[in-house]
Amino acid sequence: MSQTPQAKYREDYTPPSHTITDIDLTFDLYDNNTLVTAVSQVKQLGESNVVELDGEALKLRSVSVNGEAWSAYEVKEASLVLSQLPTEFELTIVTEIDPEANTALEGLYKSGGAFCTQCEAEGFRRITYYLDRPDVLARYTTKVIADKATYPYLLSNGNRVAQGELKGGRHWVQWQDPHPKPAYLFALVAGDFDVLRDIYTTKSGRKVDLEIFVDKGNLDRAPHAMTSLINSMKWDEERFDLEYDLDIYMIVAVDFFNMGAMENKGLNIFNSKFVLANSQTATDSDYLGIEAVIGHEYFHNWTGNRVTCRDWFQLSLKEGLTVFRDQEFSSDLGSRAVNRIQNVRVIRGPQFAEDASPMSHPIRPDKVIEMNNFYTLTVYEKGSEVIRMYHTLLGEEGFQKGMKLYFERHDGTAATCEDFVSAMEDATGVDLTQFRLWYSQSGTPTVRVSSQYDAGAQTYVLTVEQFTEPTQDQAEKHALHIPFDIELYAAGGSVIPLIVEGKSVSNVLDVKAEKQTFVFENVSECPVPSLLREFSAPVKLEYNYSDEELMFLMTYARNEFARWDASQMLLAKYIRANVQRVQQGGDVEVAAEVVDAFRGVLLSADLEPAFIAEVLSLPQHNEVSGWYKLVDVDAIAKTLEGMRAIFADQLQEELSAVYHSLKQAQYSIDHAAIGKRALRNICLGYLARIAGGNELVEKHYYQANNMTDTIAAMSAANNAQLPCREALMQDYSDKWKHDGLVMDKWFMIQGCNPAANALEVVKQTMQHEAFSLKNPNRTRSLVGSFLNLNPVHFHDKSGSGYRFAGEILRELNSTNPQVASRLIDPLLKLAKYDDERKALMRAELESLKAMDNLAKDLFEKVSKALES
Ligand code: TRP
Ligand code: ZN
Repeated sequence: MSQTPQAKYREDYTPPSHTITDIDLTFDLYDNNTLVTAVSQVKQLGESNVVELDGEALKLRSVSVNGEAWSAYEVKEASLVLSQLPTEFELTIVTEIDPEANTALEGLYKSGGAFCTQCEAEGFRRITYYLDRPDVLARYTTKVIADKATYPYLLSNGNRVAQGELKGGRHWVQWQDPHPKPAYLFALVAGDFDVLRDIYTTKSGRKVDLEIFVDKGNLDRAPHAMTSLINSMKWDEERFDLEYDLDIYMIVAVDFFNMGAMENKGLNIFNSKFVLANSQTATDSDYLGIEAVIGHEYFHNWTGNRVTCRDWFQLSLKEGLTVFRDQEFSSDLGSRAVNRIQNVRVIRGPQFAEDASPMSHPIRPDKVIEMNNFYTLTVYEKGSEVIRMYHTLLGEEGFQKGMKLYFERHDGTAATCEDFVSAMEDATGVDLTQFRLWYSQSGTPTVRVSSQYDAGAQTYVLTVEQFTEPTQDQAEKHALHIPFDIELYAAGGSVIPLIVEGKSVSNVLDVKAEKQTFVFENVSECPVPSLLREFSAPVKLEYNYSDEELMFLMTYARNEFARWDASQMLLAKYIRANVQRVQQGGDVEVAAEVVDAFRGVLLSADLEPAFIAEVLSLPQHNEVSGWYKLVDVDAIAKTLEGMRAIFADQLQEELSAVYHSLKQAQYSIDHAAIGKRALRNICLGYLARIAGGNELVEKHYYQANNMTDTIAAMSAANNAQLPCREALMQDYSDKWKHDGLVMDKWFMIQGCNPAANALEVVKQTMQHEAFSLKNPNRTRSLVGSFLNLNPVHFHDKSGSGYRFAGEILRELNSTNPQVASRLIDPLLKLAKYDDERKALMRAELESLKAMDNLAKDLFEKVSKALES
């Protein structure tokens, strides 16, 4: 590395020296030498007549001020410093860039045949020299010029205001965005597409043109995205009273994209994975993912665009809040319980693991080297849990009052997390002083509960202790304000009212101290407590439940989430016990009553099938690993396999009956149909493991009339290593090898291959005609799944998995550091493994560290991991 990358600190925020009120951009698009002319209206804000503009990978062609060539400037490594400036001036900068060579997919690049941009977080500086920070908001006018035959559609933010023809077969379109915005929300697209159009009438009666642009030939895969968009617009009006604010909303699907999607004003750019779907190409979870991401980007129009972030440390201000909004959207449209369960699995699995890793950080980070490294589960998902806690504490009405005040105060500006808390506080009168700690404290708190029943006094006492273990970024921890939602049950299943000091109290206890006791009165029998209902705070719960109490809650708890959670705690007890047994050479065992409790759920006619499917899904290896300081990869894998085998064996008749009862003749994607398929396919996964499994799975595959069933069969064959696996995989590949997006599901199964030669197969699969390391989706599907979802082979004692990861990372370091930096995460967690594995992992990290062109994305993570 030429220079050690420098960290930035949240505390060092200073307002910009200048602002830019208007910018007029002209793009003369060519594959290798696009000319960008930026005419900015600049105003000095402070004392200095010097301005430093951000810029990377640019060729500077000219600089002028008020129409005169300017020579008082200096070009630095990542900036352009202009001096001796007037207080207000028009700045014209011409830069040249090479979109085709841009494999990092940041700034202006080519995806397939189209030009597109990605500017968040700091990509605009790869287009022109600019004040590339979110607190500089300008009105944009953008003229796009390109060859007409190859690029018939020329798009940018806002409204189309002019267009024309040029000689040489070129044409141009000019766009104007009336809403001032930071540079990260700028977008441009040029290409040839099929377009799906619709019109949405807002609640105040304005008509909005909706346009979804997809690669030619993909129009039949766009309708679900359009439906999701319309549902999002309607939902935001109904639930948040927020209306869209332009006359046109465009979505473009591209194949080469580093993340899920991007909320650029009026012109969202999407990873095609989150747009394209039909019954033959997409699974139910693809459909639901599209609904969630379309919603997410649409909701950013208010939480992100109308109110943006003052600086990048405030990222959770828009992301945590927008994830909360998309989760609520999905929950209002589908099953609230199933959505909650799936979101909680993400927090308890990968987010808790991030808290425990060298990358631990608060939802509002304090120190950043590469901003792209902080688009994390912590900022997004834990950030959303923090927003959800406001909702739990204030109620829907209070929360909406707070939102209203937040928009009244900050619409059109760049705000901070503190501004959000203040709005919530001022709108409701609730004191959130201690609650603010959730923004600055990293790590996962543990809430340890014990109980005591006094029959004589008719009291039930809950003692609640909280502590947060030190994390790599932060040694000292303090007590948080934890909304702790509980309920008490009598033996027959009735709910015991909560009475404290003679008054009935809310189910949500305010836990604020390190140790607190709650004395409930008029409790006439020893109750079973339901604790941390709805996962009311992102914490680890410790309470010494007996098997009987958990089985009781599985049937009697009033809400589905609590029932599911009880089933998970019961499984967790057995997983822990079995891991120990396996480590001592014993066999996996599950008590017959426990199997019966799951049988009861499987056969409950009054439960939704999607919910039953969640109860019958064991936690992933990753989540279980998170329970241990030192992870025994093989013992955990053996335990999970053994428990699956026991359930399959003991429940085979019921599984088979449910499997056959849930067959649907017609395919539809309504939530009830999705739920039935989910449960039927969970049953298939178990039945694959018993006699006749191979035939059943084969039949399931060949009779499938939709992608969900197809993939369910392939996964079942893969996980149970059935003889039919190869034939099914071959059939699928023959059918879909021309379509990378559809092949991603196949690559993922290859990555998760439990067979002994998995790594060899993965390496061979990299030669498949549909595979390319240049495409982030392909890389994540195959390599990402091997690193993250195939722990047994990734962590193979020989170190072969680590070496493979190292090879891939060294290559991606130069082509696409953002993708490399997401891929490296499992390698950072070396501290959790035995000494031999630790040494092998460290060796790979050292070899990365020694590279002389190590990107700052990887530098930041590798350095932290080596300090652990
Ligand atoms: N703001 C985007 C979202 O959450 C995500 C995003 C951040 C992104 N950086 C990106 C997307 C880089 C693609 C590439 O919706
Ligand atoms: Zn977002």
